[in-house]
Amino acid sequence: MTSLLIRGGTVVNADREFKADVLTVDGKIAAVGEDATRQAPAAAVPIDASGQYVMPGGIDPHTHMQLPFMGTVAADDFFTGTAAGLAGGTTSIIDFVIPNPQQPLMEAYRDWRSWAEKSAADYGFHVAVTWWSESVHADMGTLVKEEGINSFKHFMAYKNAIMCDDETLVNSFRRALELGAMPTVHAENGELVFLLQQEVVKMGITGPEGHPLSRPPMVEGEAANRAIAIADVIGVPIYIVHVSCIEAAEAIARARARGQRVYGEVLAGHLVIDDSVYRHPDFAQAAAYVMSPPFRPKGHQEALWRGLQSGQLHTTATDHCVFCAPQKAAGKADFTKIPNGCGGIEERLAVIWDAGVNTGRLTPSEFVAITSANTAKLFNLYPQKGSISAGADADLVVWDPRGSKTISAKTHHSKVDVNVFEGRTVRGIPSHTISQGRVVYAKGELRAEAGKGRYLKRPPLGANFHAAALRTQDTAPTAVQR
Ligand code: URP
Ligand code: ZN
Ligand code: ZN
Repeated sequence: MTSLLIRGGTVVNADREFKADVLTVDGKIAAVGEDATRQAPAAAVPIDASGQYVMPGGIDPHTHMQLPFMGTVAADDFFTGTAAGLAGGTTSIIDFVIPNPQQPLMEAYRDWRSWAEKSAADYGFHVAVTWWSESVHADMGTLVKEEGINSFKHFMAYKNAIMCDDETLVNSFRRALELGAMPTVHAENGELVFLLQQEVVKMGITGPEGHPLSRPPMVEGEAANRAIAIADVIGVPIYIVHVSCIEAAEAIARARARGQRVYGEVLAGHLVIDDSVYRHPDFAQAAAYVMSPPFRPKGHQEALWRGLQSGQLHTTATDHCVFCAPQKAAGKADFTKIPNGCGGIEERLAVIWDAGVNTGRLTPSEFVAITSANTAKLFNLYPQKGSISAGADADLVVWDPRGSKTISAKTHHSKVDVNVFEGRTVRGIPSHTISQGRVVYAKGELRAEAGKGRYLKRPPLGANFHAAALRTQDTAPTAVQR
């Protein structure tokens, strides 16, 4: 029997914080509070959490480990990427199976399952729908009913690659509704991006500064509004990944005000990094920040923070998808060929704590909600994940609010050669990360082990979540009626 007694800390759940000891036994939380102290076996290993917070391990709902993308493969594999996450207090990820168009979903799913066996932390998958046929319809059913998938991803960008047209969105959203699964979208109008990329290059702008010019906020706003409207007509909830701008955040808030079930995810990077990074004179420095949607002018950050504070935006992620300088160099002569993607799995919690809790924008409980509990609830992992309660998985982070560090590629655990948060000093860092009741990170020492992560089956979301989804145009007064 392996047992830990985490003593003297302040437990933080999404609903409240309280002083309590936490006992873990054989990978589960056995007791919280006086019961923990009383029931602890003599052999329980003590961890001193005095002066610290004890929180559910972070869940990153958006990562791409070893993703084959834009002619190359993301540099962190499932071991190095999840190990970096553990060093930063993230104990679970939801990654993406992305079939090539015409590839059977089940075949791609099996590929990703085998690649992920080396994972050091627990993991699940969203499965992307990149094309449509009767076999895709059937495979979606198999994935939900037999494989524990409850969310499907749709890329509205990346034309001539993995982009979905509206017909596919409609078919897939309808199937997701039948299955009790959550459709999710990367909201950017791929036709407009394609057009703007050509126009920007024609103007002679071929460096990374062209990237944000080809993907302005309205391109994201249009796609968010369109996906929300399709979901509304079909009557299915929808989750919008990496919301980066006012236009998309407002689309979500408007739909929610009509009573529609719409959820939004924000990346740590979009909260604190602005578009000035693309104007760095050194190609490698600027290309390191090429991701989609791009970093935005500073004013958008405030809208994202307010969305999280007000509950109109719900989760935080990283979209961890890293490419080293030689990979980014594929786009040296043409920014449209720079592999899109940035890192952050190790830094997400500390960056959001420092910029969110230390500034008073978020309480510690709100921090737990947006870094762990809300994701667990939306993707049906709660309370196994995202909660410190008896019976939950013993995935915890002991958080030292006075500890600080300066983020750098020289000291991070990812394999990528840059860090988009380079030089940022954060106050509030993990002292210990516990995964399945094992101490996997302690005061700077990472003890991640390949293959220890388990695949997380996620049941469908349940009839109420879907059946109660209203077509809001049936119920809300229109402008004319008002
Ligand atoms: O630039 C990004 N975000 N790369 C990963 C793929 C995606 O769009 O999420
Ligand atoms: Zn995306
Ligand atoms: Zn992504």
